[in-house]
Amino acid sequence: MQAQKLFPGVYRLSFGEPETFTPETFRSVAPSAALKNCEELPCPFAQDAIAFRASARGCVAELPLDSFEQLYGFGLQLKSFAQMGKKKALRVNADPVADTGDSHAPVPFYVSTSGYGVLAESARQVSFYCGANEKLGAGGRTVTVEIPAARGISLVLFAGKDPLDVVRRYNLFSGGGAMPPAWGLGVWYRCYGQSAQADAEGFAREFRAHRLPVTVLGLEPGWHTRAYSCSYIWNEKNFPDHETFLARMKELGYQINLWEHIFVHPEAEIYDALKPYAGEYEVFQRGLIPDVSLPEARDIFADHHYERFVSQGISGFKLDECDGSDYTGGWSYPDCARFPSGLDGEQMHALIGLLYQNTVRQAFAPAGKRTWGLVRASGALASPSPFTLYSDLYDHRDFIRGLANMGFSGLLWTPEVRSAASAEDLVRRIQTVIFSPVAMVNAWPFPNPPWHQVDEALNHQGIRMEGSEALEARCRRWFELRMELLPYLYTAFRRYRDEGIPPVRALLLDDPADEDCWTVENAVLVGDALYFAPLVAGERERAFYLPRGTWVNFFDDSQFLEGGREYRFAYDLDAFPLYVKAGTLLPLAKAEQSVAEHPLFTLCPRSFGAKPGETLSYVLYEDDGASEGQTGGEVTLTRQADGTYALSRTGETGHQMYRLAEEKAD
Ligand code: GAL
Repeated sequence: MQAQKLFPGVYRLSFGEPETFTPETFRSVAPSAALKNCEELPCPFAQDAIAFRASARGCVAELPLDSFEQLYGFGLQLKSFAQMGKKKALRVNADPVADTGDSHAPVPFYVSTSGYGVLAESARQVSFYCGANEKLGAGGRTVTVEIPAARGISLVLFAGKDPLDVVRRYNLFSGGGAMPPAWGLGVWYRCYGQSAQADAEGFAREFRAHRLPVTVLGLEPGWHTRAYSCSYIWNEKNFPDHETFLARMKELGYQINLWEHIFVHPEAEIYDALKPYAGEYEVFQRGLIPDVSLPEARDIFADHHYERFVSQGISGFKLDECDGSDYTGGWSYPDCARFPSGLDGEQMHALIGLLYQNTVRQAFAPAGKRTWGLVRASGALASPSPFTLYSDLYDHRDFIRGLANMGFSGLLWTPEVRSAASAEDLVRRIQTVIFSPVAMVNAWPFPNPPWHQVDEALNHQGIRMEGSEALEARCRRWFELRMELLPYLYTAFRRYRDEGIPPVRALLLDDPADEDCWTVENAVLVGDALYFAPLVAGERERAFYLPRGTWVNFFDDSQFLEGGREYRFAYDLDAFPLYVKAGTLLPLAKAEQSVAEHPLFTLCPRSFGAKPGETLSYVLYEDDGASEGQTGGEVTLTRQADGTYALSRTGETGHQMYRLAEEKAD
């Protein structure tokens, strides 16, 4: 069988009858034009190296493996990292508690250390047997891919110089990476689930009074008249005057994000219009499931959201419960459910997360603004979608593993902070979340901020814990660090959008030749120059593997370490391994109280490991921070030979995003 070339280094190999519905059927973003500029590489598999067959169970593909390869990916896998030897049965699940392949965002794509990737183009519950068993007499391992019910398989094969090149081609094939509005990278706080207007305003004012730099306030279910299923109507009992509320929040520099799910209550204005386009089951109390694979349903939902919310200034949504329910009471629809488009429930579970994201993104198009939201399910080809995954699971180590895994499959992930077993646990979790795509405290179970009181029962009684002021100061410090990193993070996302390079990624992606990186699941690279290894509560010291090269301690830039080996140090609560590549000019910003819609960052750069007289530079991405469809421009920050800093612009971007704090020498 002959693979068909789609783009440089991207091939399609098909067998049998194509499936009617695959993730590509519903793609809303075309492959990125940048793919055409990728280096030409041959198909990673020799002709006829992949065996296919059909059976009563579905379709099977067997892909040869070398003995030394390691495999990664399969979406947001929270329970494991290196996948060789495992069986992964990819199923969307609200509660992925075991290492079976269940995930909020399973993606039938894996990448190999040998420099290739494979996407099985299907919305079915695809199983991957990753070289665990050898076939009798076959003399070699395979990845066996099984797609139930299908009578054909379409594989997209990605070549690459190395695994990062493969991942980036996958992301560009998906349409490039998502570009956040600048405010989306600020600190988020989700208010208590039943907060009324006065409560939410109380949080907003307290954060400003206490100089806690929060930018996005999230309202949880209590803003709706009905939430399970959803009415998408402001609850006047809780929010007697939501327009005034929104205006005040804007004045205080907040962006508002609204919780919802896709199951539409009869009370909703769009219920009747959506009914002809709904699936055959109801979810939660009488909620219909709009078939958002159909443009009619998408338009009804998106137009309503634009008119009622986006045009009123709502900046984003949290799309809850769009995964599935296998271990959570079975509230979701069955796999055999039928939908008007012809999709069945199994396929809808795989697709609805991304279809829902696309629908809500469509609501922002008339405003010409970018959104940055949250979602609990996603899938293949998701990289252009401006939504970050979160989970009700809460193991801190699993959450850190999510950070290492997200970059293999074009996904964004927030290890959100909710409850904490202790003040230490709260601080450690906050230190982790600030290095993620959404730096969020999801305090929906707490009527008071968790730094007042981490114990849920006492928090409800309004009893402050001892040392709460010191705890708040600690949280402030890490929120401020997030604010300082914004220009750097924004620029990292520009690389995600245009080049497909994940902003947060596992170490092996940058140095696949160093096999010691292959199993590191508890440290990540953030952008191109930062190495981050979080601690979890209870740890007084930690061992960490530092990649090859020279690194400078972020907290003490006189301290250098040579990478390519493991270190073990003791840490107090205010420290953790955070290293900067030697020779980096880090474009840190002054920590403001919030991120403006069109921000002007005051740069306070720091040089790490500059030799006397050395010139360093950093190229920052600049645009207006909020509008959709901008190409933006570049601003070069330079550390001059005399230790002073300078900024220079190439071209006009229409908005100046950066200025220098002062002509200070370092
Ligand atoms: C859950 C969600 C939480 C919170 C809660 C509110 O489904 O995962 O983050 O939003 O609902 O009821």
